[in-house]
Amino acid sequence: MASEAEAARVFAPAKINLFLHVGGKRADGYHELESLVVFARAGDGLAFERADELSLTIDGPFAGALSPDPDNLVLKAARTLAALAGVRKGARIALTKNLPVASGIGGGSADAAAALRGLNVLWQMHLPSEELRTIAAQIGSDVPVCVESKPAWMEGRGEKVTALAGIPEASMVLVNPGVAVSTGKVFAALKERRGVGGPLPPTMKSVSGLVAFLRTTANDLEAPARGIAPIIGEVLDALASQPGVMLARMSGSGATCFALFESDAAAHDAAVAIETRHTGWWVQPTVLGT
Ligand code: C5P
Repeated sequence: MASEAEAARVFAPAKINLFLHVGGKRADGYHELESLVVFARAGDGLAFERADELSLTIDGPFAGALSPDPDNLVLKAARTLAALAGVRKGARIALTKNLPVASGIGGGSADAAAALRGLNVLWQMHLPSEELRTIAAQIGSDVPVCVESKPAWMEGRGEKVTALAGIPEASMVLVNPGVAVSTGKVFAALKERRGVGGPLPPTMKSVSGLVAFLRTTANDLEAPARGIAPIIGEVLDALASQPGVMLARMSGSGATCFALFESDAAAHDAAVAIETRHTGWWVQPTVLGT
């Protein structure tokens, strides 16, 4: 690899909404949200090299589900950053797509945020995270929280991000049944919502403390997403019936669901059991990082 100014590599971890409460619809058409967001050790990879023009290539297990057209969030992020900063530089970007697309774990948002981080290095712009988050908000609601990819309290449409300490590491399994769900359609089908205005989550020292807290919360998008894609219910049942499971829930607008487990061994055994029974589902044992 060449020196820092010539190339950069960035990891784009999967985003998990441990809970997601929805409030009213705003004048701009978006809904007020409140969500406890964490990141997994599983994710996509992005590599950046100096070039005259901007270009994107995609490989990896989910490359086939995406095309490197101008709408791709990575290119949108690159163009937005370049325009705002007045940069007239290109980049050769290579995305390794390990996460399923349109799946509620922020794949596209994590990639866009990683593009902002990577190009900030490649183009030697030295923009602070706060400024990158402001740019990120123009690309998508989930992009600001992915700029730092650390546990956070997310509010507003997604643009208000407060870093949270005190979330324990936990063994986790992610499962996606291979159905892409449109975030816009899920919000449009939403009937019941918990509303926003809750207190900041308390510091939680243990995974059982975290789970006890999460049981007082929900993902308001789970019911409408299940209405659109009933297979999400099968995913949740499969996760919830595994030995050592502590909590099973959908992330974001779905269809990916996560479950927290008592140990890494229990998470791995659960992943093997689910994968064996449901060929075609994406099953990923991982760790909720801090
Ligand atoms: O911002 P993003 O493009 O990810 O949002 C996709 C769609 O999800 C929006 O067009 C909107 O319909 C819905 N949405 C919403 N409220 C949010 C985030 C997204 O209604 N806070």
